[in-house]
Amino acid sequence: MCGIVGVVGNTNATDILIQGLEKLEYRGYDSAGIFVAGDASSQLVKAVGRIAELAAKTEGVEGTAGIGHTRWATHGKPTEDNAHPHRSETERFVLVHNGVIENYLEIKEEYLSGHHFKGQTDTEIAVHLIGKFVEEDGLSTIESFKKALRIIRGSYAFALMDSEDASTIYVSKNKSPLLIGLGDGYNMVCSDAMAMIRETNQYMEIHDQELVIVKADSVEVQDYDGNVKERDSYTAELDLSDIGKGTYPYYMLKEIDEQPTVMRKLIQAYTDDKGQVTVDAKIIKAVQEADRIYILAAGTSYHAGFASKKMLEELTDTPVELGISSEWGYGMPLLSKKPLFVFISQSGETADSRQVLVKANELGIPSLTVTNVPGSTLSREADHTMLLHAGPEIAVASTKAYTAQIATLAFLAKAVGEANGNEKAKAFDLVHELSLVAQSIESTLSEKEVIDEKVAALLSETRNAFYIGRGQDYYVAMEASLKLKEISYIQCEGFAAGELKHGTIALIEDGTPVIALLSDPVLASHTRGNIQEVVARGAKVLTIAEENVAKEGDDIVLNNVHPYLSPISMVVPTQLIAYFATLHRGLDIDKPRNLAKSVTVE
Ligand code: F6R
Repeated sequence: MCGIVGVVGNTNATDILIQGLEKLEYRGYDSAGIFVAGDASSQLVKAVGRIAELAAKTEGVEGTAGIGHTRWATHGKPTEDNAHPHRSETERFVLVHNGVIENYLEIKEEYLSGHHFKGQTDTEIAVHLIGKFVEEDGLSTIESFKKALRIIRGSYAFALMDSEDASTIYVSKNKSPLLIGLGDGYNMVCSDAMAMIRETNQYMEIHDQELVIVKADSVEVQDYDGNVKERDSYTAELDLSDIGKGTYPYYMLKEIDEQPTVMRKLIQAYTDDKGQVTVDAKIIKAVQEADRIYILAAGTSYHAGFASKKMLEELTDTPVELGISSEWGYGMPLLSKKPLFVFISQSGETADSRQVLVKANELGIPSLTVTNVPGSTLSREADHTMLLHAGPEIAVASTKAYTAQIATLAFLAKAVGEANGNEKAKAFDLVHELSLVAQSIESTLSEKEVIDEKVAALLSETRNAFYIGRGQDYYVAMEASLKLKEISYIQCEGFAAGELKHGTIALIEDGTPVIALLSDPVLASHTRGNIQEVVARGAKVLTIAEENVAKEGDDIVLNNVHPYLSPISMVVPTQLIAYFATLHRGLDIDKPRNLAKSVTVE
């Protein structure tokens, strides 16, 4: 979702901005633009569609400083007029923005009568406001920016330039992510470190409601009252190969294939020299002190919470409740006396989850963030963090983060259970079981061609499909159906197999694809009964079964793994099903329409 990149003090400004925007493409966008300034001139270039279309328009655009933006439309359609950067009334000030300004219409009415706007965005109003304070009221650029920041309500990451001064970029943030990158003789700003990793691995955080003055050789952080703040830089543990596709046609396939390695990395990260599971004692204590764990998340991460619920409850002896972040942001249910909020978030930036975390912090509720991104907003603002160690996930459709989330929560459950003397936790040899999961994934990955053929026969033409399962398999069905629908656009629902007959079975007709998940020895025979019910109504069924419940004729058979971890192994063929179904339909697997990787607006 919207991305920002900026550079000051580098003669390759155009190239750096375009390359940075390409690295931000994965976040999702529908138009883009750059503003580049040098000593004598400046240029603004915008395009609807892909960065390649913007790049094609930038030949001859040169300068030493600039700001660029990928826009995911919120206020106004994806047009060039609505694409950022936006300019003030006299076109002197230029602004890019990520977030949503809540009071933009009030600002327009109160301060900007007589101004002319090219598009419908909230951002254009912000830059007109800043420009007005300089051009009409005589304030300095910095005073004007501060005055505007005090008026603006909502979420924002702003990068502002004065086209008469190519030496400075002014930035500020509130709730939306933004980082400073420190180069050699030049400096940068960006929405995430990946946009700048080619140039630098030295970064500096910006906190909410700070204003930063970025020049080629200096970075000054201030609060809105002008008090200067000291800020150390840090080194990001990313390298360029982490964010490349290598020989893969799509990031999604690369990330699916990385899952056995991620399982092994997690074993390394959460075991000590003696191979014993180890989790920060403060986190174990936080769970021990809680009388209920509330998992808050969105989308795939929410599904990972479901898939981990039984394991967490049985091993920690603590009830687990799930909440959709966007629902809880506006209304929390009656909480237990000693709640612990666990935020699951690949990006660590999801605005819906952050909104709940802000409320939890106000209420003094302890919190843990389980995330793939160290230093992300949810990580910084929660009391504790557990990292997923999955490496950057670039494809919009989350795969390795989902499996890493369940595995990470398994380490938490095991560590707390052992500390509590829980018998099941003591008997659960997680390191061994997770190694078996890694092997099971590898064996599924070696069956790609078979899966591809079955998908071609089942899903090439259909408009809709169903996943069914019971128990843990139902939770995997929810995730499997999200994966299929978000990239192939096949309308797909994941159902508890026993629920079909209470309404949904009415949708089954001749040829409707139904994919059944079978891993639980007690529940599998019941799901097989439900398979018969849909077959009798004409459904085309594909079965994915673990060896212990497999029968002759099952389509995809997986190695047995520990029941707590079966969602990790069961989801992998469904990820491949989504991948191949999308490939056969000729769609952009990594960048599905309308979606953003990092959902930084509510
Ligand atoms: C789907 C997907 C999304 C995310 C959701 C939450 O493949 O990736 O459903 O899971 O937007 O994002 P995070 O985990 O970054 O909080």
